[in-house]
Amino acid sequence: MASGPHTESVTLSGQLAVALDATSERPLQGLADAEPASRRDRALVLLQVHDLHRAPLADLGDRVRWQHHPAIASLKSRLETAWIAELDARIDGDLDEGGAAETLRAIAARDRAPAVYQWLAEDAGWDAVLRFLALEGGPDDIFDDLVATCQVGLPVGPAKMELASNYWDEMGNGEVDKVHNVLYRRFVDAVDLPTVARHDQPTEALERSAMLGLVATNRALQPEMVGALGLIELTAGPRCRYVDQGLGRLGANEDARAFYQMHAVVDPLHGKGWLDNAVRPLADRRPSWGPRILRGAAWKSEVDMTFFDWAERALALSPTG
Ligand SMILES: [Fe+2]
Ligand SMILES: [Fe+2]
Repeated sequence: MASGPHTESVTLSGQLAVALDATSERPLQGLADAEPASRRDRALVLLQVHDLHRAPLADLGDRVRWQHHPAIASLKSRLETAWIAELDARIDGDLDEGGAAETLRAIAARDRAPAVYQWLAEDAGWDAVLRFLALEGGPDDIFDDLVATCQVGLPVGPAKMELASNYWDEMGNGEVDKVHNVLYRRFVDAVDLPTVARHDQPTEALERSAMLGLVATNRALQPEMVGALGLIELTAGPRCRYVDQGLGRLGANEDARAFYQMHAVVDPLHGKGWLDNAVRPLADRRPSWGPRILRGAAWKSEVDMTFFDWAERALALSPTG
């Protein structure tokens, strides 16, 4: 959806962008009680607010000083509360009564091979593969920071140790060339992956990103974050295998394929470690955590599947797909 300066100025996200760059706090104060124009507008607002908590300072510039401004806090809490209620309504009935680790494994088994990945592996043309991957972002994008955030305040024990070793894997076990994000950059450079600005992304992709910001910026949602990240690990292996199959079929080189090949092998191990050493002990230690870990996994599953359905309709089934 194209959205120029005119349309942006009437959306809350457009007004927020202006207010965050203003020299005085006045424009921001006027937004504390404002309502987004649409679901899409809400996602664009929350992504900007989450940036204040998580984006690199070099990208944020002076905006970062508004991180804890009362108007931002009010906006964030109001919009997130409404969204959480919607997410809960969408996953209603999705959680069975099994143990947290077993049920999370079952959600992941159900989700591991969405149709759009089979299309990537077997049928998609080069441009369509890149269009999808530019929006999908791989399993990693910000995973290292997410794992680091997720372990804050966990007691020293198996869960904290599991997240620490997962983080160190993300860091290439100390070898810069093997840092997952470095491998991802190599992939991006090798295929010349296009960058898609937020305003050009579908709402389904925006909400999928914002959901991780939601759990990463609310201490109260730490169990949900454990579940969401666990689902990422448990589904990344098979999905990366499909992507690599597609890249191989289309003649991509080693630089393009290394990131996905590595995750196809490593993430099933990360997923197993996450279940055995994080989910199970945390749910055993605090029974209230089990259902909430599953809630976070179900939220993640819901936003993923909504995005994959969009991608199948918009990319795989389109005449140029
Ligand atoms: Fe990774
Ligand atoms: Fe991983």
